[in-house]
Amino acid sequence: PPKRITAPQIMARKREKPIVMLTAYTARMAELLDRHCDVLLVGDSVAQVIYGHGSTLPASLEMMIAHGEAVVRGSSRALVVVDLPFGTYEESPAQAFATASQIMDRTGAGAVKLEGGTAMAETISYLTQRGIPVMAHVGLTPQAVNVLGGYAARGKGNLDYSRIMDDAIAVAEAGAFSVVAEAVVEELAISITEAINCPTIGIGASVKCDGQVLVVDDMLGMFDRNPKFVRRFDDFATRIDEAAAAYAEAVRGKAFPTQQHCY
Ligand code: KIV
Ligand code: NA
Repeated sequence: PPKRITAPQIMARKREKPIVMLTAYTARMAELLDRHCDVLLVGDSVAQVIYGHGSTLPASLEMMIAHGEAVVRGSSRALVVVDLPFGTYEESPAQAFATASQIMDRTGAGAVKLEGGTAMAETISYLTQRGIPVMAHVGLTPQAVNVLGGYAARGKGNLDYSRIMDDAIAVAEAGAFSVVAEAVVEELAISITEAINCPTIGIGASVKCDGQVLVVDDMLGMFDRNPKFVRRFDDFATRIDEAAAAYAEAVRGKAFPTQQHCY
């Protein structure tokens, strides 16, 4: 199988070809996305997308490991990055290392991602110095929804703007190989992208970032309501509805199975 893209290779893509990243949670989806994406993110959004929770907070370590294993199994080329779930890394660098090393060991992923800026800089440096590449995540950090008070865009006030700027610089200086910037105003995305030496990967952060990420189910149009920053590249919800309706009609009308589906 072809060698996987590495974290240092992603880092070297700063100001080069845009980095293509999507989330993936299952083996077959990972297999389908692998040849198009540089990075597959096993996001803690799995809690919402796959398990139907209202936020990412209920994502557990066991969930992340199970879906991480599936995505690594299904892919062969993309760098697989697994989110550290809420409550498994924030307490101390040692706690983060115990969690991240377990994820790396059990899934075969090439890196982890964690949320937070200045407060997580020490942890990022601790992990990278001990063999674990870290993707950081600043701006709108969904695990902090209860502190932020919602999912509104960030960087609109001067204080918020300069705090997020400081966050991005802190995580980059701590050794993050890339930084996800979520739901930040374009001007801030530009400032961050210019200020730091590692690539920025935007989600709702304008085209000026060094790469882009979306939740795959959002991009496929699986949900009715979508944040402003999502572009639906397809309408899977409608397609599934139509396919299920056609199946139901065929079963009820005794039009399926036919002779060709029988032994
Ligand atoms: O969990 C997730 O899907 C993410 C992306 C939105 C960046 O963290
Ligand atoms: Na996440």
